[in-house]
Amino acid sequence: MSELPVVLAISGASGAIYGKEIFDRLAETGRKLHLVITPTAEQIIKDELDIGMEYFRREGVVRHDNSRFDSPIASGSYPTAGMIIAPCSMGCLGRIAAGVSSDLVGRAADVHLKEGRGLALVPRETPLSAIHIENMLRLKRAGAVILPAMPAFYGKPQSVIDLVQTVTGRVFDNLGININSGPRYKGNV
Ligand SMILES: Cc1cc2nc3c(=O)[nH]c(=O)nc-3n(C[C@H](O)[C@H](O)[C@H](O)COP(=O)(O)O)c2cc1C
Repeated sequence: MSELPVVLAISGASGAIYGKEIFDRLAETGRKLHLVITPTAEQIIKDELDIGMEYFRREGVVRHDNSRFDSPIASGSYPTAGMIIAPCSMGCLGRIAAGVSSDLVGRAADVHLKEGRGLALVPRETPLSAIHIENMLRLKRAGAVILPAMPAFYGKPQSVIDLVQTVTGRVFDNLGININSGPRYKGNV
């Protein structure tokens, strides 16, 4: 497992719990984590999870202001193990697809694509418009991994967190981050 830092962005879509679960699992490994929470996400985290921003104050976690670009993660010269955006709003996804680096999340995502590093996006929206689908295709072709917030049920989830982990486990797998989060399908044979 690469011990390079991971970048985690939480944007303003419903499903803040996906971002929190990824944060929790990464933070407990003790590896360095660069965290960006968009202003809309701050509000949604409070509304959906009843936690404040102090929750994200942990050793090894560096929180960045989304409106500032004087951050190491804004530069391709700063090595990382990859970047996760969970949940990823369609606004955020659209800006990245268009190459509009108008905030730190967009710039860091742009850097991960241009450097050919892992970029995992967890979009949450329904139904999807043609624009959403085209933006996802554009990002997939540019090298991103699209992991929609579509939980799996084959493990007979008993709780919300069980469901959430069916998505977040795939995120870690796809970035090659060795965190065992959630059950795996074992088949019937
Ligand atoms: C309560 C709430 C829930 C939202 N849920 C979603 C959502 O599930 N998916 C989405 O694409 N946008 C959602 N939005 C809209 C985004 O927050 C909005 O497009 C915003 O500009 C995204 O900005 P950000 O990506 O910088 O956080 C929601 C907004 C609010 C206030």
